[in-house]
Amino acid sequence: MRSREELVKVLGAPLGDLATDEALFAGAAEVRDRTVGRRVYLRGLIELSNRCRKNCLYCGIRSGNGRAERYELTDGEVLEAARGAWRAGYGSVVIQAGERTDGAFVERVERLVEEIGRMSEGKLGITLSLGEQTAEVYRRWYRAGAHRYLLRIEASSPVLYGRLHPADHRYERRVACLEALRETGYQVGTGVMIGLPFQRVEDLADDLLFFRRMDIDMCGMGPYIEHPQTPLAGVRSEFTREERLQLALRMIALLRLEMPDINIAATTALHALHPRGRELGVAAGANILMPNVTPEVVRGNYRLYEGKPAEDTDLSGFRTVPDGAWGDAPHYASRREAAKSEE
Ligand code: 5AD
Ligand code: SF4
Repeated sequence: MRSREELVKVLGAPLGDLATDEALFAGAAEVRDRTVGRRVYLRGLIELSNRCRKNCLYCGIRSGNGRAERYELTDGEVLEAARGAWRAGYGSVVIQAGERTDGAFVERVERLVEEIGRMSEGKLGITLSLGEQTAEVYRRWYRAGAHRYLLRIEASSPVLYGRLHPADHRYERRVACLEALRETGYQVGTGVMIGLPFQRVEDLADDLLFFRRMDIDMCGMGPYIEHPQTPLAGVRSEFTREERLQLALRMIALLRLEMPDINIAATTALHALHPRGRELGVAAGANILMPNVTPEVVRGNYRLYEGKPAEDTDLSGFRTVPDGAWGDAPHYASRREAAKSEE
């Protein structure tokens, strides 16, 4: 395990030439191959709706952005997207949406999870990425058949978190949600954005320590990309876009070295900054891809940041096997075993 100083040293090395990080990336990819395997697992991403009650200062679909065109998929569209992913040999789907907590939404998600389970005879894995909810709601969705949950901490420093969000978005509450998810039994994923305004390499080192402390099973990290219709767009980041890409790759590689048996995604935001961004993510140690399977008519509207790619993912550059395998992180099984033997 690396100390904070060692992490800061790697992250803080001069940026500008990806070739200088070659040994770091290759070492992380080798660790990946030996622990979770060489194979890249696919999750079909279904963007259910871009309505959101939150108002995060960096996000294009924040509630305060009156210019975002809002949409919601129908149940039929969600099921069709899930069926398409299932037929294509995907091991699981991710249902993602802006945050909503009203009863109608909670029930709808519960029903959709059950229906996807029925449609695939329980074989298609279901991940949810639907923001902060009560422990009771997390339990309901778990009982309905969801087994993984993604909730990025966005920035693990409470001070930085405070600068990126309105005052009523509480850091402590988000951490409590991650803990509730773990207690419910989910495989828990979190993540951060990289290259945010006010963010320094020390914060990124602390993010890695946070992941380790929270003992997470999955991680999705990507470069921060300005969205012009947000308050943060006018605030300068210390890092250029190229530097953010490189830093994000360093973060993936370091996380793989620190937590060898978790699942790490090569995210869409990498692709937004570089045509081969996701391939670079895999070369730096990632093992998960989340191709968008949302119906194309609405795809352009889930605009978290500028330049988010809307086309289908070209899978030809990846070692994938379309056999429907779930691809759970070995970390999850081993921490559950450890918990059992402590009882
Ligand atoms: N740049 C990069 N990522 C962003 N997200 C939201 N806004 C941006 C942005 N401007 C990410 C957040 C969120 C995920 C769904 O998208 O980390 O958790
Ligand atoms: Fe909503 Fe997520 Fe965007 Fe925040 S980052 S405004 S919670 S969709």
